[in-house]
Amino acid sequence: MPLESITQPKKILIVDDEEPVRRTLIRLLGKIQTECRIASNAGEARRILREEAFHLILCDILMPGESGLELAGYIRSEYPETALIMVTGVDDPDVVEKALELGAYGYIVKPFKVSEVIINISSVLRRQRLEAENRIYQKNLEKMVADRTLKLHSALNGVIQAIGRTVESRDSYTAGHQRRSAELARSIARKLGLAEDRVEGIHMAGMIHDLGKLSVPAEILSKPAQLTGIEFDLIKAHPKVGYNILKEIDFPWPLAIVILQHHERINGSGYPNGLRGEETLLEARILAVADVVEAMASHRPYRPAVGIQKALEEISNNKGLLYDPEAVMACLKLFYEDQFRFSNE
Ligand SMILES: [Fe+2]
Repeated sequence: MPLESITQPKKILIVDDEEPVRRTLIRLLGKIQTECRIASNAGEARRILREEAFHLILCDILMPGESGLELAGYIRSEYPETALIMVTGVDDPDVVEKALELGAYGYIVKPFKVSEVIINISSVLRRQRLEAENRIYQKNLEKMVADRTLKLHSALNGVIQAIGRTVESRDSYTAGHQRRSAELARSIARKLGLAEDRVEGIHMAGMIHDLGKLSVPAEILSKPAQLTGIEFDLIKAHPKVGYNILKEIDFPWPLAIVILQHHERINGSGYPNGLRGEETLLEARILAVADVVEAMASHRPYRPAVGIQKALEEISNNKGLLYDPEAVMACLKLFYEDQFRFSNE
């Protein structure tokens, strides 16, 4: 039974092998609002504890059979919300220290004074109540933080999707490209065994990786012919433009850098910075593979779809040259072994 559900009066268990001591304690406790049960040894105490919850246990140390200190250890581990005071004839600092180490809240030496017992018990019960209130507060706080985190996360997801749709609304031919690349990049990342949080970051980056195309005139994006050098240079600026838009935002993932690097290639032939191999983030190398495969598999203004077969040949032929070898292997396995297919909605 949870302790918080016990109403007044406070429930106290007295564990002592001496009948006169038990009687005296019951008489003293009658002066404060309590409800007492008694146990004459540790075994009986354990049995009663299995049946009922208590606010406080007053426990002797020297008893026949299991000692009060052993019982104290058991109470601490099994009933952490129950307060414990040792009531004993053993006036030895080492034993006191041991009892406090085991989690006793107080230590009363027999023969005890009435006021000493009442003060000890009252202050322990107050401390115990405050701790219970604290636990409830902590639990509520944790739930509030978890709820708020979930909401923020879902809002972030929504904002990313909205940005993705904005980019694609100007360029009907590549509509869906970011979402499908993001799905493939996420599957590659999972196949490589990355942590789920990192996988999610890759998916987010994929959803908006062509954000910088907002700066490219729509006529160029959907031009149904080969692009001129100047037009191509404008398109090639999109990773940097996307990076500049996002770089000041403190996302939980390196989205701006992944977007900056998604056209870099392993041999340094990519853009904008001609980075090589592991100079780019693994996230960007994964996204590069997913981006190329999706782009080749889909229709473009200046050419019909090349097809998934050719796309897989392209990454396979250039594995380790243009594309990260492990990301390529994971991608090939997804298509050939796991029957990965792009969704069309
Ligand atoms: Fe791109």
